[in-house]
Amino acid sequence: MRRAVCPGSYDPPTNGHLDILERASSLFDEVVVAVLINKNKQGLFSVEERMEMLREVSAHLPNVRIDSWHGLLVHYCQQNDIQAIVKGLRAISDFDYELQMAQMNQQLTGVETLFMPTKPPNSFLSSSLVKEVATYGGNVSHLLPEAVHKRLVQRLGQNG
Ligand code: PNS
Repeated sequence: MRRAVCPGSYDPPTNGHLDILERASSLFDEVVVAVLINKNKQGLFSVEERMEMLREVSAHLPNVRIDSWHGLLVHYCQQNDIQAIVKGLRAISDFDYELQMAQMNQQLTGVETLFMPTKPPNSFLSSSLVKEVATYGGNVSHLLPEAVHKRLVQRLGQNG
């Protein structure tokens, strides 16, 4: 079975993430979406909430499953028999750091990273920017799956 992982913070998942998941799911037998836990980064959503949102927005993709992981991504790949890491690339500015991580991961365990160019309408999109714009009242409804947008509005209402 050819299995890939799409790792990330997903705080929260955006239309850009969903596009990459959909396209990756057509290339592999199974795609695991791994929410990477970073104890030094306080998220707007808990890891459980992010996983719930990812389950909701990927419900139409039968070969996609959601998981979480604390530690090195390469160890997750080894433990789950994953041959490839799929990453969306928005712009050349992403490439520098992504290339560094891909090369590090490759030399650690031999796991390969495949870069998938985001669709142009998503090339400026990031979870952090979406949160910032929404915090100050900007409209981000067209940038997020509906279920995620609902939760974001709710969460910012609670915080504000
Ligand atoms: O959505 P993000 O925050 O851009 O995702 C970055 C992420 C979580 C995929 C990356 O930081 C990662 O792979 N972290 C896991 C820890 C790890 O393996 N670090 C070594 C990378 S060479």
